[in-house]
Amino acid sequence: MHILFLGDVVGRTGRDAVVAALPKLRADLRADLVVVNAENASHGFGLAPEMAKDMFAAGADAITLGNHAWDRKEVIPYIAETPRLLRPLNFPPGTPGAGSTVVELHDGRKALVLNVMGRLFMDPLDCPFRTTAVELSKHRLGGTVAAVLIDFHAEATSEKMAFGHSFDGQASLIVGTHTHSPTGDHQVLPGGTAYQSDAGMCGDYDSVIGMAKEGAATRFWKKLPGERLQPAEGPATICGVFVETDDATGLAKRIEPVRQGGRLSQTLPVV
Ligand SMILES: [Fe+2]
Ligand SMILES: [Fe+2]
Repeated sequence: MHILFLGDVVGRTGRDAVVAALPKLRADLRADLVVVNAENASHGFGLAPEMAKDMFAAGADAITLGNHAWDRKEVIPYIAETPRLLRPLNFPPGTPGAGSTVVELHDGRKALVLNVMGRLFMDPLDCPFRTTAVELSKHRLGGTVAAVLIDFHAEATSEKMAFGHSFDGQASLIVGTHTHSPTGDHQVLPGGTAYQSDAGMCGDYDSVIGMAKEGAATRFWKKLPGERLQPAEGPATICGVFVETDDATGLAKRIEPVRQGGRLSQTLPVV
C-alpha cells in the first residue's frame, strides 16, 4: 500500500497549494491512503468546513487537526457529522468528533487513522500513550485493518520519539505534526513502523512557522502585545511523507520525504 501524509496546512497559500497539487500527487505516487493535517488552514488558525470539503474533494481520505482544532467554531457541528475529520483522541470524553476513524479505501481495504496530541509544552490532556494503546487494542494491523496511520501532534521531539518507539510494530506510520518544520529523521523503526518526528507544514517557509516574519519576530524583541499574526503569503512548499507498506503485514518497507513547490529543496519519491 502507498500512503501519503501532508503536514499542517497553513493559510490560503498552503490550502491553495494542497488543493491544486493533491490530485496529481495522489495519482503520481499511486497513493491508496492520503491524510492531511489542516489545523492551520484558516488564516493560520483552525479549519472551516468549506476548506475541509475542498481537501476531501482534492483527494484527502482523512483530515487531522491539533491544538487549533476549534479556532473556527463552525467546525464543531461539522466534525460531529464528518467521521473522516479527526480531532485529537485524548481530548476530554464528550468532546465533539472523534480521534480515530476507519477509512475504506478504493479497493475495499480498511485503514485506521488516529490523531493524538502530546502533552509536553502543550495543553494537559489525557495521556496520549494510554489512550492510543486502548484504541489500537480494538484493531489488528495486517488483520482487521491493512494500515494504521497515527498523526502525533506534539511540540517535543523527545515525546514524539518515545511515542514512536512505544507503538513500533503496531502502526504503518507514526508521523509528528505541529512544529511546522520537517525533520530529517525519517526511518523505518526496528519493529517495522515508519517514523518521522515532524512532517513539516504546507505553507510559505519565508516566515516564522508559516506566519509573516515581521510580526512574529517583533514578539520576541518586545514584550508588548502585537497585532494578530498573519499568515505569510508567498508560494507554499507542500511537505509530508510517503510510505510503502508490505501488504501481508501492514508494516512499512520504506519512508521517503515529500517536498514540492516553494522555497525548500525539492524531493519526491520514485514509485
Ligand atoms: Fe500546526
Ligand atoms: Fe499545532
